[in-house]
Amino acid sequence: MRRRVGERVKEKGKRITATVMAAAMLSLLLGACSAGNNGEDQTAQSLAVHEDTAEAIENTAAQQTAGQSETVTENQEEEAESGSNILIVYFTAAENSGVDAASSASYTTIDGTAVGRVRAVADMIAQETGGDLFAIQTAEVYPANGEELIDYAAEEQDEEARPELTSHIENLDQYDTVFIGYPTWWYDMPMALYSFFDEYDFSGKTLIPFNVHNGSRFSDTISTIEELEPDARVEEDGFTVSENDVAEAAADVTDWLRELGY
Ligand SMILES: Cc1cc2nc3c(=O)[nH]c(=O)nc-3n(C[C@H](O)[C@H](O)[C@H](O)COP(=O)(O)O)c2cc1C
Repeated sequence: MRRRVGERVKEKGKRITATVMAAAMLSLLLGACSAGNNGEDQTAQSLAVHEDTAEAIENTAAQQTAGQSETVTENQEEEAESGSNILIVYFTAAENSGVDAASSASYTTIDGTAVGRVRAVADMIAQETGGDLFAIQTAEVYPANGEELIDYAAEEQDEEARPELTSHIENLDQYDTVFIGYPTWWYDMPMALYSFFDEYDFSGKTLIPFNVHNGSRFSDTISTIEELEPDARVEEDGFTVSENDVAEAAADVTDWLRELGY
């Protein structure tokens, strides 16, 4: 959620800068018109050209201003949206390792943008439900290299590690439904998910798992979540998809959500 708000704030900043620049260009131009004309013909010609240009800039400024108010409206919606009672939590290797988006197999491409695979499914759920997104992030920077990551994750699991988390949900009370997404790592959840379930008490809330795998589907992770959060209602009909099918999963995600009543 913080990320999405941040993106919009950045976007708004860009638009305001563009508006200010357009206004500055307009005033420079008008200043140049009034200060620089000696002969009448030259003045008329110059003014005509400048008027066209000025009009174009004014239009741009108007559009930018319109864009700006659109963004404000979006931000207002964001605030209303953050009143949502649905939270979509996800962990993806891509946002916790030094992986280069353009070249890595850890990403899938959605609408021309490279995103971590579990994040891609989280986005699809957010699109349908209007829920807020939350990324589980670790202090650990996981190995970018696939083989190293496999070994590293095996060690973490053997040690029953609880990786330190650097992102925290500040308003859990607001949510009564929490989608929780993770990849299968060594027939289990990444250990960061154990840290996550240690940190929060989901009593009385509905937890809805979703997952990306390369053959093991959920393994036993849904019953593990039930054990870790005995007082939550854990949806056993979670959504799981092969890593190869993530890019085309949107329709299946929608169908699944409809079946669950979203
Ligand atoms: C450390 C590691 C262990 C994995 N173990 C399994 C596994 O046991 N079973 C399986 O089906 N897929 C396994 N995978 C494949 C991932 O579940 C799959 O690539 C998933 O798309 C990763 O999601 P992400 O790229 O969003 O992190 C493993 C991947 C990694 C990196």
